[in-house]
Amino acid sequence: MSSSNDRAAWLHGNGTPCDSNHTLPERAWRIILLGAPGIGKGTQAEMLAQCLGSCHLSTGDIFRAAKCLAPDQLSPAMRSALGYMQRGELVPNQIVIDMVAERMRCLNCLHGFLLDGFPRTVEQARALDALMDDQGHRFDAVLSFDLDTEQVIERLSGRRTCSQCKTTFHIKGKPPKVEGVCDKCGAPLYQREDDRPDAIAVRLRAYHDSTAPLEAYYEQQGLLRRVDAGGAPAEVFKRALTVLG
Ligand code: AP5
Repeated sequence: MSSSNDRAAWLHGNGTPCDSNHTLPERAWRIILLGAPGIGKGTQAEMLAQCLGSCHLSTGDIFRAAKCLAPDQLSPAMRSALGYMQRGELVPNQIVIDMVAERMRCLNCLHGFLLDGFPRTVEQARALDALMDDQGHRFDAVLSFDLDTEQVIERLSGRRTCSQCKTTFHIKGKPPKVEGVCDKCGAPLYQREDDRPDAIAVRLRAYHDSTAPLEAYYEQQGLLRRVDAGGAPAEVFKRALTVLG
């Protein structure tokens, strides 16, 4: 199944329609991806989206899309959110919950979805459960990716992102054909501000303090499926598909 959804409804909110020409999948998968920053959630979400026909919904991508706007186009809440993000800190729960609630149509989408980076705290998970209950939806699975911290830091610090189409590369694991240039669209690659060592340390702490407890939360609901995130992206993808059954 090929996916050519520009995710405009998710990235820009405010009722923006998606430019989507992909056919409806047989099943609308509703999946949450959990795991430390840089573990490869975005990489796996893209591969799963292609395969399952679901939409890749990343809260980090909403913030990064907002960063491209002029300051006077940003709401005060979004301006404040971008400051937290730059420092590697979690954005306050209510800002993120309101942002997702505004995009409820994406959670209702008949293509299903892969939530990447949300929820990140137990408070966000409870709010998401309430939104899903209201609509009569249930999650199919929560994929929790595991990898030792040293490898996570190696993945994060070597990541390079396309300034235009946002494709990610890795200086060692997935280098572009021409250094510093995106293979897909030819735009320059850059290193994310929050991939600097000081921000990485803050993000990993936030993950351990606030997000790791979500494993127990979803285990209790019988939704947690653990996936070893070691090895090449294709190997991890194969494991993820296996646990989805
Ligand atoms: P977000 O964008 O969600 O960042 P993250 O969770 O830190 O995740 P990343 O995008 O950094 O990593 P990833 O796991 O997707 O890894 P990737 O596939 O790119 O959030 C950013 C910020 O926004 C937060 O810090 C916070 O401030 C804010 N925010 C967002 N949501 C929030 C929320 N709900 N609540 C509060 N605040 C929120 O891979 C990484 C690298 O590794 C790449 O270079 C890739 O090529 C490489 N790689 C991937 N897989 C493999 C592999 N198998 N082998 C080798 N290399 C690999």
